[in-house]
Amino acid sequence: MEFNVVETKSFSKLSKVEKIEWLSSKYTDENLEECLTKFWHANPADQKIFDEFSENTLTNFYLPFGIAPNVMINREMYDVPMVIEESSVVAAASNAAKFWSTRGGFHTEVISMTKVGQVHFLWQGKKEILENFIQEKKESFFQALSPLTANMQKRGGGVTSLELIDKTHDIENYYQLYATFETCDAMGANFINSCLEELANKLTLWVKEDSRFNESNNTVKIVMSILSNYTPDCLVRAWVSCSFDELDDVISGMPGREYAEKFRTAVEIAQCDVNRAVTHNKGIFNGIDAVVLATGNDFRAVEACGHAYAARSGQYRSLSSVRLGNDRFTFTLELPLALGTVGGLTSLHPLSKLTLKMLRNPDAKKLMEIVAAIGLAQNFGAIRSLTTTGIQRGHMKMHLMNILNSFAASEVEVMKAKAYFTDKVVSYKAVSELLKTMREHH
Ligand code: MEV
Repeated sequence: MEFNVVETKSFSKLSKVEKIEWLSSKYTDENLEECLTKFWHANPADQKIFDEFSENTLTNFYLPFGIAPNVMINREMYDVPMVIEESSVVAAASNAAKFWSTRGGFHTEVISMTKVGQVHFLWQGKKEILENFIQEKKESFFQALSPLTANMQKRGGGVTSLELIDKTHDIENYYQLYATFETCDAMGANFINSCLEELANKLTLWVKEDSRFNESNNTVKIVMSILSNYTPDCLVRAWVSCSFDELDDVISGMPGREYAEKFRTAVEIAQCDVNRAVTHNKGIFNGIDAVVLATGNDFRAVEACGHAYAARSGQYRSLSSVRLGNDRFTFTLELPLALGTVGGLTSLHPLSKLTLKMLRNPDAKKLMEIVAAIGLAQNFGAIRSLTTTGIQRGHMKMHLMNILNSFAASEVEVMKAKAYFTDKVVSYKAVSELLKTMREHH
């Protein structure tokens, strides 16, 4: 590859076409321009929406948008959009949804909706002075925030508490203003961060103005003000439950009770073994991320929080659990989900808007419930496959299709390849050889 030296300092100032030209001159042996421009939206006005989500945008990166149809959640039916590139995920969620639709469906409840933010700062003076000051000023802090919180308060949210936290046992002179928030149907990141920055400004200002603090070591040094994506009190639970008899048909010849015990052992393994727990939870996030992404929510925040929650006991464990009792099998997923149905990308991305519409414009609580149900469906589908046929059977079918598509296989070739691989291991090499043979003979 040949590299031309091109001025990069003001790359962000170039137009989109100029940026592509710049890259084309750098990657001279790639068909870069054609590859990038062919994924532009046909309608420039639509393309502009995508261009403006982020910076230095050149084109769109497509991911499949599918649905898990007929998911019964609290006795209501939903067709749940999922955005994911991995094969078998949507199929697993759909099959699990079908399985549970005749066994009462998914049940869900939101346990709490609290979000968190912190002003991290250093204070060298006596702790008691600071404690008294914060206590004294608490009302003033709330008042100072009222221009920012008025709208949110009208909707039933706002800042719900403000505490000083002593962190000097971790870092010398380190304290936090720890605030909790209710952000209604917004994920609330902007709202929380604006409130925190205002709290930090007022803290600095009021300490400076107060004559009790004119000794030089009585200064507040703000380090940073930022929401926490760890929201263990923004929690949702989803569960499915059926009698043992209703599991009789999962493995032919195995009574439902015995299968329930096998399933429970598989989940218990993910409770005690970190290697299994990570894969188990990854499967849960296959479903969760796909719906979070489709709704234009922040899947990185959801993932980071979910994994921290999974490790809250000091060991990383399964987010789901099984209870067997009174002749019933109950499978539960509990995890924090800080989601929004207003603001951010939810109202900008045309497919997120459509997704929310298909979900009957849920509020944030309802969306938490839908997402948790799909996470549980995914987990159930994965464990059911793992404890019965193994996952490769389903995976390989999809894998075979992906490989055949990469060779632009015809309908006849697809049919023959499917028949050929019913009892053989699918691999790229094996498929390419089969196609080669078929094409030679043809
Ligand atoms: C694959 O993306 C997800 C699974 O590995 C999850 C699991 O093992 O539980 C099938």
